Amino acid sequence: MFAACQPGLEPFLLAELESLGVSADEVPGGATFAGDAELLLRACLWLGTATHVRIRLARFRCRALGELERKASEFCWEEWLNPRVPLALNAAAKRSRVYHTGAIRERVHNAVGRAFGRPPLLAKDGDEVTAPLHIRFVDDTCTVSLDATSTPLHRRGYRLDGRKAPLREDLAHALVLASGFEPGDALLDPFCGSGTIPIEAAAIARCLPPGRLRAPPMQHSARFEPETWQRLLAEVEPNGDVPPIACSDRDEGAVKACLANAERAGVAETLQIEHHPVTAQPWLQSGAAPARGVLVTNPPYGMRVKGKNPLLPLYQTIGHRMKKLGPGWRAAILAHDVRLARRTSLSLEAAFTTRHGGLSVTAMTSAAVQPTTEPASRATKDERDG
Ligand SMILES: C[S@@+](CC[C@H](N)C(=O)[O-])C[C@H]1O[C@@H](n2cnc3c(N)ncnc32)[C@H](O)[C@@H]1O
Repeated sequence: MFAACQPGLEPFLLAELESLGVSADEVPGGATFAGDAELLLRACLWLGTATHVRIRLARFRCRALGELERKASEFCWEEWLNPRVPLALNAAAKRSRVYHTGAIRERVHNAVGRAFGRPPLLAKDGDEVTAPLHIRFVDDTCTVSLDATSTPLHRRGYRLDGRKAPLREDLAHALVLASGFEPGDALLDPFCGSGTIPIEAAAIARCLPPGRLRAPPMQHSARFEPETWQRLLAEVEPNGDVPPIACSDRDEGAVKACLANAERAGVAETLQIEHHPVTAQPWLQSGAAPARGVLVTNPPYGMRVKGKNPLLPLYQTIGHRMKKLGPGWRAAILAHDVRLARRTSLSLEAAFTTRHGGLSVTAMTSAAVQPTTEPASRATKDERDG
């Protein structure tokens, strides 16, 4: 099997697989591992940083389209595919004599048709359930894989209202893991938007699997095992005793969306969701936060204008306010502009870099937030204005 993730998240994916008892090999963009049908379902249920889990059905040397059709026709498609579900054929080729992706799709379509006795249906826009089949050529070796799910795993199903610039759920999950968030830690996101970070954190704290709201995997295949999926869900033992997770945003619409998303995710009672600018966030007042915790957040990125970022005062405010949390707190900030993140004056190190919404983003983490000795009167104008 191959679990795919966003480039940069591989170490987190590997650690998640390890906690499922799987010994996996890291490869760029994911990890490979071996296992049975139940492990495939467990991976789809529990991996928070994966986007896909694929089953590698076949791998063979191939240097011509005729050879591809012949070898693909020898494969037992009927053991894997459901003839009533449309096929979503994806082809890619690198450094190979077979390179025409349209012709690759056509030849595999013919081969599957031979196994079914009629050409398989092809997926079209709007089909809810499809069987995504990937045919990939690298150095004249063809690998055929079937996705365990029709939609990517990061689409958890709780975020129907994304508001402005929502964070992908897998990235929010990785940011929480990178922060070192542990059972017993409080967590704060003062720029919560639609709530992706606190919702992912609440699920981690309560031992709720990321895939709990999704349709069962493999429903597009001939190997659909809904009973096993139901059993795995029934085996989940949620942790009820969780330290507080607080989040806020200055946008009232975002706060409403966060609450609705948290309710759908089944974690609303774990979150303290409030409508505040960062400067009025109750935990960011001296001595108000729990003793131990992590600040995990994705503040507005902004863009440089003539080398200057108009958000500079906001980032200085973030750093100043964070220092009021106390010495038991660490921070993880997702930044597009690393120099801007450093203007928080927190001692930050890059934990991982990946891409989000077409931009390169870096998770910056701090070991411990140093408490401030600055008097309140030194607050910046921006801070006073919120
Ligand atoms: C990049 S978005 C966060 C997205 C969020 N992680 C999600 O998944 O939806 C930044 C958020 O910061 C909020 N924001 C901007 N300035 C703020 C301030 N001074 N105080 C509090 N929130 C602020 C915006 O309303 C926006 O929701």
